[in-house]
Amino acid sequence: MKKMIPDFEKMKQAGEKISMLTAYDYPSAQWVEAAGVDTILVGDSLGMVVLGYDSTVPVTMEEMLHHTKAARRGAPQTFVVADMPFMSYATLELGIMNAGRLIKEGGADAVKLEGGSEIAPIVQALTRAGIPVVGHIGLTPQTANQLGGFKVQGRDLESAKQIAKDGHAIEQAGAFLLVLEAIPRQVAAQITTELKIPTIGIGAGQDCDGQVLVYHDILGLFERFRPKFVKQYAQLGQDAVRAMKEFNNEVKSSVFPTEEHTFGLSEGVIQKLYG
Ligand code: KIV
Ligand code: NA
Repeated sequence: MKKMIPDFEKMKQAGEKISMLTAYDYPSAQWVEAAGVDTILVGDSLGMVVLGYDSTVPVTMEEMLHHTKAARRGAPQTFVVADMPFMSYATLELGIMNAGRLIKEGGADAVKLEGGSEIAPIVQALTRAGIPVVGHIGLTPQTANQLGGFKVQGRDLESAKQIAKDGHAIEQAGAFLLVLEAIPRQVAAQITTELKIPTIGIGAGQDCDGQVLVYHDILGLFERFRPKFVKQYAQLGQDAVRAMKEFNNEVKSSVFPTEEHTFGLSEGVIQKLYG
């Protein structure tokens, strides 16, 4: 059954873990739904794993909408969160307009924004406008340059305190879920205890209320690099190349197609046509 907003807090209270996977199109969303995963994230990670950009920064609203619509069609019974791309919430007005598009045109159930206290005003504005918001703190890929690259956040006293403060600010502003990316497990555990809203970890240890990973990472469909927090459950990329090599060889050697894949005419028609 499709989750609704209050279900997530109930799951946290009951100690029931929340699962989330990314999906970016019709088939991937269908498979995530078939697997019974609680929530789909149409992440702006699509910029890297399906569009081939070097980071998530170039991803546009049009690209997010295009993929959100497809994912929604593939998983009509799953709660779908869509990422707000870089610069799409640079001002309150822009943020409300773009979040509204992801919900109304894209069919998302909620939007996700990266950032801490500094984005609390926009989180509050969206919540007030009736748009459910998921927060995202710790390693925030859209601003990874400012953080010194793709590295673990919250390792020193100051930064651990700041992340906790950010978590509280996002909860206060009205978010109903909070993604914690690449932070020490102890920092994530403490935030998870302090907050009422569930935390969804990615590289944040097992004490979070839920876990999220990228579809292409767990299935072995993206091999450019693999962060420590990724667990690969299949090697579909290798399997795909093997299958396509076989097709290629069979075409070149006339092994494919056989009678089994071929249409024919009846003898009578053959006689009249080509007699
Ligand atoms: O874009 C994404 O896939 C994400 C998750 C990794 C949390 O934001
Ligand atoms: Na993202």
